[in-house]
Amino acid sequence: MAGETDLAALLESMHPVLREGEYVYALWPHGRPLEGGVEAAVREAEGLTVVLHRDEADRLGLEYDFVAAWITLQVHSALEAVGLTAAVSSALGAAGISCNVLAGFHHDHLLVPVADSAHAMEILTLLQRGVVLRSGMRADREAILALTAAAFSINPVTGLPVDGEPGEVGLLKELFECEGYLPGLSIVAELGGEIVGHVISTRGFVGDLPFLGLGPISVEPHLQRRGIGSALLRETARRAAASGEAGIALLGSTDYYPRFGYVPGTTVGVQPPEPAWGAHFQVLPLPGMPDAGTSDGGLGTFRYAEPFQRL
Ligand SMILES: CC(C)(COP(=O)(O)OP(=O)(O)OC[C@H]1O[C@@H](n2cnc3c(N)ncnc32)[C@H](O)[C@@H]1OP(=O)(O)O)[C@@H](O)C(=O)NCCC(=O)NCCS
Repeated sequence: MAGETDLAALLESMHPVLREGEYVYALWPHGRPLEGGVEAAVREAEGLTVVLHRDEADRLGLEYDFVAAWITLQVHSALEAVGLTAAVSSALGAAGISCNVLAGFHHDHLLVPVADSAHAMEILTLLQRGVVLRSGMRADREAILALTAAAFSINPVTGLPVDGEPGEVGLLKELFECEGYLPGLSIVAELGGEIVGHVISTRGFVGDLPFLGLGPISVEPHLQRRGIGSALLRETARRAAASGEAGIALLGSTDYYPRFGYVPGTTVGVQPPEPAWGAHFQVLPLPGMPDAGTSDGGLGTFRYAEPFQRL
C-alpha cells in the first residue's frame, strides 16, 4: 500500500503514540551475534548501533548515555514523503526538545529525552492540529493585541461583556515597551499563519530576588479548551527554568493554574502585592527558587513590572 505524501494530510493524521518504557542507544559488541529485543539497528563503519529497551541493555551489559522515550507517528507515511520529519523536529526544536528520528517501512519514530516525553506529546498533538509555538516578534504585536482584545472581551472574573477596549490590551502595549520586557518570554501559538494564542511574562521581583510575573494570557475564543493555553503555560515554565529563573507569579483562577504546578504564593514564602488576592495569587517555584526560610515574611512581597503598578 502506498503511503501518504501530502504534508498537511500527514500532519493532520500523524497520531503520535508514546510507547511504554525507556529506550537507549548502545554500541553492539563487535563480532557478537545480534540477540535480545533490539528495536532498531544501524550499521556504520565504526560499528553497529542498536536501539533497545533500557532494561534489555542493562541485562546485556551494554553501556548507554541517552535515555529516550519512543514516540511512533502512526500515520502511514511514504518513505519519499517530504517535510514531515522537518516539521516535527522543528516544532520540537522550537520547544527545546531534541529529537532523533528513525524511519521504518510504515511509520516514523521519534526518540526524545525521557524527561521531555509529556511535553513532546503535547507539542505533537498541537502540531497535528496545525498549531505551533514560537517567540513573539515585533511584527506580531498588532495581531497579539487584537487577540488579547478578543480573549478579554468577556471579563474572566464577572463573565460580563467588557465595554470598550479591555484593560489588558493597554497593559500589554506598555509591557512590550517597559524595562521588564523579556523577548523570549512573549510566546505565541500560531495556526495557519494566524496568531491564536499568546502569553507574556515580564521581570518582577520578590524583595531583591528577580522573579517573573505572568500575564496576560489569551487564546482565541473559538479555539479555547483545546490545550493551547496549557501548552503556552508549560512552554513558559520550560523556558523560565532553562534560563535559571527562580519562579513565576500570577493572579488567576485557583481551578486552572494548580494543574501546572502553581501553588498559593504564601505557601512558598511569596506574599501577594495586595493581601486581598489571597489564594488567587499563585507561584510556580522553579529549581532556582531559594528556600523561604523561617521568617514570617518568607522571601518577601512580589512586585510586578512597572506597568502593572499603574492598573
Ligand atoms: C484562560 C485561557 C488562556 C485558557 O486557554 P485554553 O486554551 O482555553 O485552555 P486549555 O485548553 O489549555 O485548558 C482547558 C482547561 O482549562 C480549564 N480552564 C480554562 N480557563 C479556565 C479558567 N479561567 N478557570 C478555570 N478553568 C479554566 C477548562 O475548563 C479546561 O478544563 P478541562 O481540561 O478539565 O476541560 C483561555 O481560556 C482564555 O484566553 N481566556 C480568556 C482570557 C483569560 O481569562 N485569561 C486568563 C486570565 S487569568
